[in-house]
Amino acid sequence: MKKAWWKESVIYQVYPRSFCDSNGDGIGDLKGITGKLDYLQELGVNVIWLSPVYRSPNDDNGYDISDYQDIMEDFGTMADFDELLAQAHAHGLKIVMDLVVNHTSDEHAWFVESRSSRDNPKRDYYIWREPRNGKEPNNWGSFFSGPAWEFDETTGMYYLHCFSKKQPDLNWENPEVRDQVFKMMTWWCDKGIDGFRMDVISMISKKEGLPDVETNGGLYGHCSLGTCNGPHVHEYLQEMRNRVLSRYDLLTVGECAGVTIEEAKKYANSEGTELNMVFQFEHTDLDARLTPDGKWYKDKIDIVALKKLLSRWETELSEIAWNSLFWCNHDQPRIVSRLGDDSPRWRETSAKCIATCLHMMQGTPYVYQGEELGMTNYPFRSLSDFRDLESINAYHEWVDAGVRQPEELLEAIAYKSRDNARTPFQWDDGPNAGFTTGTPWIAVNPNYTRINAKEQLARPDSVFHYYQKLIALRRQSVDSELIVYGDYALILPDDPQLFAYLRRLGGKTLLVVCNLSGEKASFRKPDDLPAASARQLISNYPGEPAPYSLVMEPWQANVWVLE
Ligand code: NOJ
Repeated sequence: MKKAWWKESVIYQVYPRSFCDSNGDGIGDLKGITGKLDYLQELGVNVIWLSPVYRSPNDDNGYDISDYQDIMEDFGTMADFDELLAQAHAHGLKIVMDLVVNHTSDEHAWFVESRSSRDNPKRDYYIWREPRNGKEPNNWGSFFSGPAWEFDETTGMYYLHCFSKKQPDLNWENPEVRDQVFKMMTWWCDKGIDGFRMDVISMISKKEGLPDVETNGGLYGHCSLGTCNGPHVHEYLQEMRNRVLSRYDLLTVGECAGVTIEEAKKYANSEGTELNMVFQFEHTDLDARLTPDGKWYKDKIDIVALKKLLSRWETELSEIAWNSLFWCNHDQPRIVSRLGDDSPRWRETSAKCIATCLHMMQGTPYVYQGEELGMTNYPFRSLSDFRDLESINAYHEWVDAGVRQPEELLEAIAYKSRDNARTPFQWDDGPNAGFTTGTPWIAVNPNYTRINAKEQLARPDSVFHYYQKLIALRRQSVDSELIVYGDYALILPDDPQLFAYLRRLGGKTLLVVCNLSGEKASFRKPDDLPAASARQLISNYPGEPAPYSLVMEPWQANVWVLE
């Protein structure tokens, strides 16, 4: 297999708004991040992915960009960015930028011009359509509830917005749009950044003719059905590769809503004609139902389904493309509350177990801020606790339509809301968890007095130190090659508790066994495995059990090398 630095990396996602506030305005900022580089260095990651820091009116926390070559005032200045980049590099940390080019803000100069008249030269930068029978041009619904179209009085036409109405979709069919995007990307690359995480990049090419899509019983059909993996998406990404990416040594990861294994083989193909890897969402969608309100249920992830799904991605992409490995990001609830057990008794053990399971797979692991502390979901109680437009809109959409009961829906939103990931980072047990000296833009999780970085840095058996060890094993150990490049094979596929697999490379075998349940489970080593000498690499329980017949404790994770 071809080696590459981005295959050997561990990436840490910073959500700047909630990471560290240096000036007391209650909002995290660039100087705050620069001040915490030592912390990230100590954790051992080598790449930081920054969620968007560009100028933005913040309808969707920076995923609505009004100027790609300027910095959001809340976060600081371009000089602060340059300082962060320089300091990060001095710490051996690379910086990957969030590239949000499926859409802009409606306050971006391009859109302001585009909406001003039908014959404005920028009109065709966006997707404008005439009304159909006095209504929306098709039945697409937005990711954030309601129709994906907004009527614009000035010119009497609708524009497409797959997200909020303040996020109009760019028209990638227009070569001038592509020129502008590629020029802007080049500008950032020339500044010395190290890569791009590409926001919903699978959606940039819309279905020919923008046809109606299946509504599945809802009022609208999900716009993803008309936008994901569209007819020209690979062509556009190859053009991006040829014109920009190929000129630099970058890490590129595409956030690919709706991506299948077959599509991922193209996006992340090992010939390198498009991207290095993609984020797929099949595993994070396992606890959603197949109804239009399907995200908003408090269902549990089925372990057997999860194992089979992740294992399919592992084996089918092997040698053909490359996987990214993640449980968490700024759009997902906290994994320890979702897949683990966030009660005081099991929180740390289960957080470590879940981490082991992911970090020993083949692919590039991503750690989302606070995951390395086992940060939990927030105890949301009322709608006014939320800041995220997706959650607030969903509540109104389903309650107002009489489809769901307010209390039951609120409970589900509290469990799934993106705001769970967006509460301030818990640095210490002081006021506001050390995040700000002001009033935080979103409430701090009250458990910060128990769960915080300061306490964990001082305690050798903390979740932080466990992540540090997992990362060091992958990046700087005698077993790095095996962990990064070894083949993957699932064992015990139907066991409802144990997620167990092998990694193999050059005569060495890694055996990973994780009990993803709060009950004991028995593990019996498969007969065809050598048992001669087993070296324990890491475990979240004390002691050195042998990998033969073994009772796994609740949430126990063990990794051995069999030589
Ligand atoms: C995906 C991002 O991760 C999410 O936070 C955002 O709301 C949408 N794309 C729209 O940009």
